Amino acid sequence: MNHVIAVANVAGGTGKTTTAHALAVSAVEYGKKVLLLDFDVASALTFKLGFENERTTLFDYLMAGKIIESQVITTTERFDFIASDSRLGSFIQHENLKAFLSNLPKRYDLIFIDTPSTLDARLSFAIEESELVVIPIGTDLHSIRGADQIRKIAGQKSIVTLKFNNRNSSSDNFDYSYEYLDAAIPYSELADKALEDTTSVITQNNRSEIASAYREAAYSILEKLELI
Ligand SMILES: Nc1ncnc2c1ncn2[C@@H]1O[C@H](COP(=O)(O)OP(=O)(O)O)[C@@H](O)[C@H]1O
Ligand SMILES: [Mg+2]
Repeated sequence: MNHVIAVANVAGGTGKTTTAHALAVSAVEYGKKVLLLDFDVASALTFKLGFENERTTLFDYLMAGKIIESQVITTTERFDFIASDSRLGSFIQHENLKAFLSNLPKRYDLIFIDTPSTLDARLSFAIEESELVVIPIGTDLHSIRGADQIRKIAGQKSIVTLKFNNRNSSSDNFDYSYEYLDAAIPYSELADKALEDTTSVITQNNRSEIASAYREAAYSILEKLELI
């Protein structure tokens, strides 16, 4: 069965795209077959992975209600990927997303969805169709508020909250009593270094602290979904 996971926060720059990518890579390391979707009209993940000029994108597949398997990209990090483009901004057909997801090949264990930072129709659909929602939060009120908004939409769904540590821990005024913390992702220079090529923070340095943190986070997701 496909398990659909949205990575979401109604705040920009909270690490959603970095996280969706890293979790996809970690899940592959655990032997899972992964499909990663760029559901953000800004297409940051598509650009990062180097697939800006794809002829067929998520919008086409959503319109068709299914993928064309032979055209889906398999990345060097061994997950499959479907690119976004600006047309996604006009996507409002919830039924098409449902059809698209239910028609995906059953061989995918996990479908990760990288979502936009604005609370629009696409974000609501993605959360509604997900079984589990991963919420990356920083130490700032903006991202904590954004996380709370996602929680409201997610209702009873399973949630994994990842806290991103600041570069400078002395300026960290995060309320550690925040009740929903599942894992901490350390500040890492590798995140920005990863922007220089198409690979994730994990591939940048497989033995780094951030790689281990993402692996642990992926493990807890697989546990929650009873895939491990
Ligand atoms: N753990 C981290 N340590 C340091 N910088 C990070 C970390 N995770 C992400 N970043 C950086 O923060 C910025 C925003 O990350 P991104 O994943 O694009 O967020 P979002 O998708 O929520 O807008 C990027 O420049 C990214 O490289
Ligand atoms: Mg993003």
